[in-house]
Amino acid sequence: MKLLLLPGDGIGPEVTAESRRVVEWLNAHAGLTVTLSEARFGGAAIDADGVPLTAETLAQAQASDAVLMGAVGGPQWAGQPYDKRPEAGLLALRAGMAVFANLRPARCFAALADASTLKREYVEGLDILFVRELTGGVYFGEPRGITDLGHGERRGVNTQVYTSTEIRRVARVAFDLAKDRSGRVCSAEKSNVMESGLLWREEVQALRDAEYPHITLSHMLADNTAMQLVKNPRQFDIILTDNLFGDILSDEAAMLTGSLGLLPSAAIGAPGMPGLYEPIHGSAPDIAGQGIANPCASILSLAMALRYSLGSPHAANRVEAAVEAALDGGARTRDLGGTLSTRQMGDAILACLAP
Ligand code: NAD
Ligand code: IPM
Ligand code: MN
Repeated sequence: MKLLLLPGDGIGPEVTAESRRVVEWLNAHAGLTVTLSEARFGGAAIDADGVPLTAETLAQAQASDAVLMGAVGGPQWAGQPYDKRPEAGLLALRAGMAVFANLRPARCFAALADASTLKREYVEGLDILFVRELTGGVYFGEPRGITDLGHGERRGVNTQVYTSTEIRRVARVAFDLAKDRSGRVCSAEKSNVMESGLLWREEVQALRDAEYPHITLSHMLADNTAMQLVKNPRQFDIILTDNLFGDILSDEAAMLTGSLGLLPSAAIGAPGMPGLYEPIHGSAPDIAGQGIANPCASILSLAMALRYSLGSPHAANRVEAAVEAALDGGARTRDLGGTLSTRQMGDAILACLAP
């Protein structure tokens, strides 16, 4: 099995280094046979190669079994045109790997029930799975751009667009996953004001009625979903939503678990194709270079890669259990109110992996 690491920018390399140590440990001590390689990506690739994602790196990603990405972006590259930004490389990687379904689990670990800014009684036992559409919507819709209208006036355009196929294939992922959970899916859109949202609602409902009669499907407007997530988050099991709402709602949900530094993700496409795994957080320029970022989101993303792309569900369970055991033992980086460095948190997790 081949795993490509794309550490990227900011804290990306710092947290990915800890995931690398976990893979190396499993290779040495737990019978895992994962071959690691690494490539430049994002701002690091812009600086060295002139583009955030070279054709060679995309080909390498497509030829791997899984890709583990760190994070991209930072103030150094923020003034550039969009196609010369690190974030454009990430969108091109998602599109190039055709990973249209992004699974973002938000679980509140028992040891962290007091770490959220919400009271314990609201978040204890929380276990939400976001299924976010990842290769369509307003991130990719045409036309887009900024045009000069003259007289100092400009016009910025992005297009929110979805087809039936794009909606149905991601809804299918949510319904299939729901079978092994509570069987409940809540679909979030803005069908009250957007045609693309109305199509979303109709297509999701039609697929449920035609093929998934045992799934309990509800629909909620996305603004209300944002509010319900902090009012009564445990009402949700799977939240199915589009690219933009999924981005925003999953960052919101991260704080229900204690820190953005905890949330992993898996982006998957057609069966048998490589998956893309990444923390949901960014490059965190405010703390980059200090060695204090929380590596849990990256290590938990690695666990998802082991489960969904690398054929090692047992190793995945082991890694997740080690993260939970380290937290149970009191290991905390600063975002969780502790004092451990990124490396020390990695050490604590590795210590819990050892039998
Ligand atoms: P961010 O997620 O980088 O940071 C938001 C806040 O959370 C910051 O205070 C940061 O210090 C904190 N944080 C994030 N991850 C953490 C971790 N592992 N441990 C401890 N604290 C953590 O979001 P931002 O500041 O809005 O964006 C910074 C850059 O990252 C931008 O260029 C943005 O485009 C990019 N970004 C990239 C990705 C990605 O690569 N997948 C995701 C989000 C943002
Ligand atoms: C994420 C990020 C990305 C997104 C950016 C960096 C393109 O915020 O993965 O959550 O918006 O999808
Ligand atoms: Mn985001």
